[in-house]
Amino acid sequence: MTENKIREKLGGTVFNAIRHVADVNHTETYVIGGYVRDLLLGMPSKDIDIVVRGSGIEMAEKVADKLGGLKVAVFKNFGTAMFKYRDLEIEFVGARKESYQRDSRKPIVEDGTIYDDQNRRDFTINALALSLNKDTFGNLADPFGGEEDLRKGIIRTPLNPDLTFSDDPLRMLRAIRFAARFKFNIEEHTFQGIKNNKDRIHIVSRERVVDELNKMIMGEVPSVAFKLLEITGLLQIILPELQAMKGVEEVNGQKHKDNFYHTLKVLDRIAPNTNDVWLRWAAVFHDIAKPVTKRFDQKLGWTFHAHNHVGQKMVPKIFKRMKFPMNDKMKFVQKMVHLHMRPIVLSEDEVTDSAVRRLLFDAGDDIDALMTLCEADITSKNEAKVRRYLKNFKVVRRKLKEIEEKDRLRNFQPPISGDDIMKTFGIGPCRQIGDIKAAIKESILEGEIENDREQAFRLMMKLGKEMGLEEQKHDK
Ligand code: CTP
Repeated sequence: MTENKIREKLGGTVFNAIRHVADVNHTETYVIGGYVRDLLLGMPSKDIDIVVRGSGIEMAEKVADKLGGLKVAVFKNFGTAMFKYRDLEIEFVGARKESYQRDSRKPIVEDGTIYDDQNRRDFTINALALSLNKDTFGNLADPFGGEEDLRKGIIRTPLNPDLTFSDDPLRMLRAIRFAARFKFNIEEHTFQGIKNNKDRIHIVSRERVVDELNKMIMGEVPSVAFKLLEITGLLQIILPELQAMKGVEEVNGQKHKDNFYHTLKVLDRIAPNTNDVWLRWAAVFHDIAKPVTKRFDQKLGWTFHAHNHVGQKMVPKIFKRMKFPMNDKMKFVQKMVHLHMRPIVLSEDEVTDSAVRRLLFDAGDDIDALMTLCEADITSKNEAKVRRYLKNFKVVRRKLKEIEEKDRLRNFQPPISGDDIMKTFGIGPCRQIGDIKAAIKESILEGEIENDREQAFRLMMKLGKEMGLEEQKHDK
């Protein structure tokens, strides 16, 4: 981007106000970090970080005044202040010099120069700053070659990587996230720095780690980030269950597929079809129990018996450790893991109505998500096979729609309740009630009766009689 173009981009109302205040008060002022990086990449950004030589809080208040008395949020402890203007979020901070202690991500902070401030940042491409002062307006302050790295597509720390990562180990995940997002390479020493410091990820809170992982998983091609996590050794620490999926075993000349790379393919395949972070996690975890269920059978070859079932049970343990929410989101992921093979098995045979009804009944409102996961799960290299599966899935989807319109099984509510049965036959709670309800449900799923109260009532009467129950006549 040319210098004139950059100046043009810094010509908006907010930047004009900052520029004015900076000049009147003779305060050295820069826009710095992600905003500058994205500007040079030609990507729009709504977060603006301003760094000043002096008090960021005072500057924020003056600029907010100039913009018509905007409300400023002040964080005295951090020496920062921010306000919103339209859809922009502008944060102000005084230039700082930071030094870290070994056991904490919290730095000791002193006032510093702009250079000191750039020095303490994570990557050269994030340390770029543009001057907002009159005489130097739009000049790039780039002491570490960030602009060149941006052009070449390189993630590199401004200082010795061991220092940058040891200061704040979260940056190891940020390096991977940026590399995946911008399709950049992590420079060799920086990469080695991550490997050296991987164990320090333990001092980062789970919430921050998860925040980064969620951003990675929401990327366009999320496998890139997961492969980097694996090569650096971070995956083994953060998600050992996923690491355990890597590798291929061979017995009697028979190999199974590498489940780690298969999982990553599924994740990449699902990415264009969903922005639901939990469905993407379901893709990550769908085969998570394959390593623990793996057996070699002389007749059958490699088997992963009940891996969907075991996987479903592993999900809460992983969620708890990761501090993921232990709520309906977890239940959704469990359900996906549990049911992930059902549409495939179903589409291998002739697609019968009753099998479709059962699937609809078990998946409920999550049926579309499940189908999306299943379609992504077809990663075979055999193109004819893939085509056949996808064609059959179309049949399954069509039948799902037809049957749902007819039988409304998505959120199945039994058409006859236990109370109905008790009242009709004048009985208290007992086993027969469960038996009758189960038989009605079965008949609906088998298509013998419709999901309809009248037909279910008739069946209940028939079953009751067979059980020797008598209809209770109520006096008028
Ligand atoms: N930064 C850092 N170390 C961190 C986090 C942030 O050095 N662990 C610095 C970087 O200079 C970064 C700036 O703080 O550019 C702002 O951080 P943040 O808003 O988290 O990220 P961005 O770089 O703006 O990226 P994103 O697009 O993800 O918001």
